Amino acid sequence: MMNYRTDRSWERYDHSTRYLGCGSSTLSKAATMRHEEPPLIERGEGCRVWDCDGNEYIDFANALGPITLGHAVPEINDAIAAQLSLGIVFGRPHPLEGEVAELLCEAVPCAERVRFLKTGGEAIAACIKIARHATGRKRIVQSGYNGWINTLSRPEGFVPAGVAAASLSRGIPAEIAALHTSLPWADANAWERVFAEYGDEIAAVVVAANYAEIEKGHEFVPAIRRLTERHGTLLVFDEIVTGFRLARAGIQEYFGVVPDLAVFAKGMANGMPISAYLGKGDLIDSSKELGISSTFGGETLSLAAVKAVMAFYEKHDVISHLWETASAIWNGATELFRSAGLEIELRGAPVCPMLWFGDGVSSDTFFSAACRNGLLLYHVPYTTFSHRKADVAETLDRLASVVRQIS
Ligand SMILES: Cc1ncc(COP(=O)(O)O)c(C=O)c1O
Repeated sequence: MMNYRTDRSWERYDHSTRYLGCGSSTLSKAATMRHEEPPLIERGEGCRVWDCDGNEYIDFANALGPITLGHAVPEINDAIAAQLSLGIVFGRPHPLEGEVAELLCEAVPCAERVRFLKTGGEAIAACIKIARHATGRKRIVQSGYNGWINTLSRPEGFVPAGVAAASLSRGIPAEIAALHTSLPWADANAWERVFAEYGDEIAAVVVAANYAEIEKGHEFVPAIRRLTERHGTLLVFDEIVTGFRLARAGIQEYFGVVPDLAVFAKGMANGMPISAYLGKGDLIDSSKELGISSTFGGETLSLAAVKAVMAFYEKHDVISHLWETASAIWNGATELFRSAGLEIELRGAPVCPMLWFGDGVSSDTFFSAACRNGLLLYHVPYTTFSHRKADVAETLDRLASVVRQIS
């Protein structure tokens, strides 16, 4: 892309930082490469987005995962608009709340009952409270990032650019932090050691897949199920990214392991803000005595979106499309990197791959060249149902230019 300019976007962004803390309410969305990437995105359609300078990008950030079908997909927008004309949220549950819960119970192996909240991290916090109550235990073991509310001990897996990992533990009383342990994915020995020491004190294990090493889950996830069963610990799957992407029912479907509880959020409403915590009926029902509640839990625009998304997945084989398209793009990209001798790899499953950079390539150089060539990437570049064959070819053309420019 010749004459790549982002001045207008940066001007508006700079103005906003006088009022908007950190320039973004979502840390991973805050731009760091001045004039080398768009700090603001103004609109999206299908697999493309536009910044305030009118630059168009093929989008692989996809709101950090929620967009599985594409931006402004008519079927989903129409469902939201139809509900909007009937009201948004009421003083009693809307029929959609039970209807969507039933759809999720049919689709997700562990789901006997479902309740809704707004964000993934909040729903994980609900599961932790439920598990502590059900087991009468205090300790929680986590693997991966489960949202900011639960970054109580070590914020494994998510440290924003320019922030020291240790600073994320500030604001957490040591007594609470001591109850949370983060353990690495697929390191069975580390898990055995912690369970040998604290096994009968651990209320819940909360597991989010490690994208780069996801295939190790075939052995690791069943092993964690056995370990938790042996110690009377509840198993919670964080399906916030994996749900509706790796498989419709996430890692529980992909690895064939049924947890006690799970959380779905991103992906299930194609961008609308909603999360679901679901699992064993008595556990979900204990929410009442635990006071787990939110005014916006049954907000109908998001529920209408989930219903429409689930109908879309029934009508189209979205998961196969995501796998095929993502494989075509990332296999092609890997070939381009390899033939140029660039140390860049895509590790893990193509539907949620982790970009890895060797010593010889700076990720900033790569990401900024990608922006100049009309590709909005992210460390975990996501594809959608709207990335079609022609978009794959165009992406590979643009990537070839990126590779030429940074080699
Ligand atoms: C695996 C995983 N779990 C939990 C969360 C937190 O979800 P939310 O940002 O909706 O609270 C995220 C968000 O990035 C995530 O990727």
